[in-house]
Amino acid sequence: MTHPVEIQFTPIATEQLAAHQGRIAVLVSPGVAPKLGLPKSTRDAVRRAMESAEGQKLKPGQALELSYPAGIEAEAIQLVALPARSTVQQARKAGAAIGARLGKVHTLVVAGNHKQAGDVALGLALRGYDFSIYHTESSDDGGETAASAAEKPRVTFMAKDPEALAKAAKDGAAVAEGVFFTRDLVNEPANILTTSDFADRLKAMEELGLTVEVLDEPELEKLGMRALLGVGQGSESPSKVVVMQWNGGKKGDAPLALVGKGVVFDTGGISIKPAAGMEEMTMDMGGAGVVAGVMRTLALRRAKANVVGLVGLVENMPDGRAQRPGDIVKSMKGDTIEVINTDAEGRLVLADVLWYAQQRFEPAAVIDLATLTGAVIIALGHDNAGVFANDDALAGDVLKAAGAEGEGAWRLPLGPGYDKLIKSRLADIKNTGGRPAGSITAAQFLQRFIRKDQPWAHIDIAGVALPPSATDLAPKGATGWGVMTLNRLVRDKFEKG
Ligand code: BES
Ligand code: MN
Ligand code: ZN
Repeated sequence: MTHPVEIQFTPIATEQLAAHQGRIAVLVSPGVAPKLGLPKSTRDAVRRAMESAEGQKLKPGQALELSYPAGIEAEAIQLVALPARSTVQQARKAGAAIGARLGKVHTLVVAGNHKQAGDVALGLALRGYDFSIYHTESSDDGGETAASAAEKPRVTFMAKDPEALAKAAKDGAAVAEGVFFTRDLVNEPANILTTSDFADRLKAMEELGLTVEVLDEPELEKLGMRALLGVGQGSESPSKVVVMQWNGGKKGDAPLALVGKGVVFDTGGISIKPAAGMEEMTMDMGGAGVVAGVMRTLALRRAKANVVGLVGLVENMPDGRAQRPGDIVKSMKGDTIEVINTDAEGRLVLADVLWYAQQRFEPAAVIDLATLTGAVIIALGHDNAGVFANDDALAGDVLKAAGAEGEGAWRLPLGPGYDKLIKSRLADIKNTGGRPAGSITAAQFLQRFIRKDQPWAHIDIAGVALPPSATDLAPKGATGWGVMTLNRLVRDKFEKG
């Protein structure tokens, strides 16, 4: 597990500021000279920087850097614009500007009595994340990113009221830990994060008070999950379903069920994918990763809600025993499925886990997350996840939570008209509908495994789980998209009191 930034909170100490040899970041309200109790030459340098053309143009969340400022020991002062009345998003972006520049040197952040400092700390932590466990000392940039625990970046937040700030940052820390758990899982290569390793990492969360069960192949066989098992049958790694329960709510209250696609590697199977870019399919467990990260956050902050997370863990490999195009499998629900393309495997996994989740838990709502289709990237790119729902209220809640957290989400339609595209000559349904509306036919396929009157939303995160470049709050690599959205959804819609 990578343990990114360590953040401490202390009162403002002028001598420490003047003697600090690392970096200093200062939150500044545009137009207001920061009162730092620093030598006059330093204050003059800061003032001139703020009055410069560049300083005048700073938008909330943007930063300006002064190297080797006069009068003090610091390497650099980063002036981060944050008006006293800023939004959550602006405060996180301001923190991210600091997080993006963290080296292994000790950074002091001077927050004064800034109200949004908790969100600044969260933004800093999220952007300061660095998955470098596979860089050894011998790589060129090993000096910057080597993963030894002693070298992880240290940050001290100086504020007028450090205790209040530490308290405000506590929920943020639970969120950051959940996001990091997701990012680590998504960033891990498939030779390390096998289905068994994944299940072990989830089982270890019992430590936090979650109840975690691992269902192995014989049990899945008994349950009749032939759709899921068919996907994994070409792999040396055994297929598994992991059930994580957090019961922080009223006893007997129907839970929210979160279901995740956990394909630890997707070669496409016999319908094999082209070589170029196939290495990215280590992220095809992204939905399961988000479910795991949310469960971690809920447990860490002792959420007063009942939430169950279920993930289907499989590996999609070509092999002598692998599933073939044309195979017909029977799902746990009982419906038969003609497998036209073994690369449309996610929906086969989810069909069985969704059905199991509803049968066993009778949830108040079901939300599944999956890196399900390339087509959603064609439709929405990397800025928005695709949201599908059979329930307008649930869809609205998801979109609202995503908007509040600054995670892009856009609703796409379902409709019975699309069903004709996935009608099969030989079975009840087939697993692909051709090129038109590829993300919708996938969602429409899943809907067949949702019971009547069951509120359900499906979120296709293929474009947002591992975008091609850094985002506001994540370095290049896994984003953990969805942990913050679902955590907020639980808080706003499922927690009592
Ligand atoms: N895991 C992929 C979808 C995907 C593509 C995720 C790109 C992230 C980035 C999924 O299993 C898949 O292969 N889908 C096929 C479906 C098709 C065969 C109907 C696709 O999107 O091409
Ligand atoms: Mn696939
Ligand atoms: Zn896949």
